Amino acid sequence: MIHFRQLRDEASGAFSYLLGCGRSGHALLIDPVVTQAALYLGMLDELGLRLDWVLETHLHADRVSAADALREWTGAGVAVGADSGIADADHLLCDGDALGCGDLELAVLATPGHTPGCLSYLWGGRLFSGDCLLIGACGRLDEPGGDGPRLFDSVTRRLFVLPDETLVYPGRCRAGRRVSTIGEERETNPLFHGVTRDGFAARASDAEASPILAEALEANRHCGRRRATDFSCHSLIQGDKTCGS
Ligand SMILES: [Fe+2]
Repeated sequence: MIHFRQLRDEASGAFSYLLGCGRSGHALLIDPVVTQAALYLGMLDELGLRLDWVLETHLHADRVSAADALREWTGAGVAVGADSGIADADHLLCDGDALGCGDLELAVLATPGHTPGCLSYLWGGRLFSGDCLLIGACGRLDEPGGDGPRLFDSVTRRLFVLPDETLVYPGRCRAGRRVSTIGEERETNPLFHGVTRDGFAARASDAEASPILAEALEANRHCGRRRATDFSCHSLIQGDKTCGS
């Protein structure tokens, strides 16, 4: 049995994803948020899964990652893009890599532009696109290293060539929507449909994006590790537990 959960952080609108292999008991989390750490641990326990990997799609600027806390508590490894600007990871991922976890195997696609080191992950017919491709939008270009033409190329040359029916699970919620398809985004996303590479940057924006937080960027450059004075297990387990799958 394969377990799959989409989890939303209400404060930032960020999505995290839990994938687990029931046969082997191995699991991974994509883009976990530190305030939701207790929720992830409870879900892993409930499903009888052991966390092997925390994967980041990119250096997040709007919330603190749970990667370091989960590594400390579960022994999981943290895997990030080789060009992500994130230090202290256990494994660096590059375009074309594959990452296995029990019966799960994810393919790694480099999709830079929102940040220089953005990755997307493809698992079967499901694409985890981070903030590269959002539903009806794309990630903002004003984060460190944002590059409009690179983002346009990533979406149109790497993602829009996937089969129409590929499910798109983005890094953030927009307009209450949780999932889309490659075909739908190719045909209806107003930032890309009928838009040229040169015209893209002027149109690209994400009006629903959360503010850029300097503290989050600083922590996330070290897998979400915060200064000792900022960090306590108590503060983590008091986080918002209202998100559902
Ligand atoms: Fe982002």
